[in-house]
Amino acid sequence: MARSYEDYIEYLNDTIQIPNEQPYLAIDLFAGCGGLSLGFEAAGINTIGYEMVEDCCLSYRHNLHSECHQEKITTETPFPQVDIIIGGPPCQPFSRRGKQTGKDDERNGFPAFIEAVRRIHPQIWVCENVKGLPEQNKEYFDSIMEQFRSLGYEVEYQVFQIVKYDVPQNRERLVIVGHHGGFQFPLPRDYKITAGEALGALAFEIPENAAFLTPAMDEYIAKYEAASKCKNPRDLHLDRPARTLTCRNLAGATSDMHRIKLPDGRRRRITVREAARLQSFPDWFEFCGSEESQYTQIGNAVPPLFAYALAQQVIEYLKGVK
Ligand SMILES: C[S@@+](CC[C@H](N)C(=O)[O-])C[C@H]1O[C@@H](n2cnc3c(N)ncnc32)[C@H](O)[C@@H]1O
Repeated sequence: MARSYEDYIEYLNDTIQIPNEQPYLAIDLFAGCGGLSLGFEAAGINTIGYEMVEDCCLSYRHNLHSECHQEKITTETPFPQVDIIIGGPPCQPFSRRGKQTGKDDERNGFPAFIEAVRRIHPQIWVCENVKGLPEQNKEYFDSIMEQFRSLGYEVEYQVFQIVKYDVPQNRERLVIVGHHGGFQFPLPRDYKITAGEALGALAFEIPENAAFLTPAMDEYIAKYEAASKCKNPRDLHLDRPARTLTCRNLAGATSDMHRIKLPDGRRRRITVREAARLQSFPDWFEFCGSEESQYTQIGNAVPPLFAYALAQQVIEYLKGVK
């Protein structure tokens, strides 16, 4: 792939489109705004989302043109019979930033995901989560794998560096897949897209509603950088991929927030559109809800281009099965 802003945006907008023909059907559990679903839809897999937050459901329906049921998923939730289950059970219980209460946390979505697999018994299921799960919660992770295997699946997992799948961001995620033999994970590309290639001119603009960091935040950052002899200030560097986008560093007004340093020295928070680009959402995707809610939806999402790479492998697998 050629390396210019125009090329990247053209590639993104051409690839992440929803085709008229979608020969497969999946349910997406804990669907968020639909980042994971969007990549699957672009590859030709129609999706039905299940998600409890209204703004997420609104974004999902607005962009994906498919149903997103607004409900709190439990082990009792009824689902339709499908060949594919995808989803990202809530990861707060397991993330490094969370308290790691793990399996006993009532927000743990794995019991409901496993129960859905048990009842529906799809041809294949794909579960996305935080990269630290296998090591930091080894005992619980092993028990999840055992439960999935006891349902009659070959279960494999891999930690992915998302930057190797056309996403201009250093982000690592765990993907667990259950299948009946023959599924292969997508292969990494041998190039990386930079933040500058994804943002183009946006990075130098000052939008009308630009949010600048407060003087107190600037002062904190200056002190922190001096004290830590910081070689890599946490401002966005256009010549490399962005650091990981999270709900916290997008939606929260912290000194860690994603920001661009302008030539005049001021730092402005990255916009919703810029954050979406760094997560590989095409420009036609519109997020619903308040600005904070939109940042949260983006920070939580699976980057659609990475989801697309996974979905293509799911389709290859299903072609082999049928
Ligand atoms: C990591 S996000 C999913 C992101 C999504 N896969 C994407 O690519 O956009 C997890 C989502 O699960 C939702 N959620 C958490 N617990 C839930 C439950 N019990 N029922 C339904 N949705 C839930 C949260 O609101 C959040 O949007």
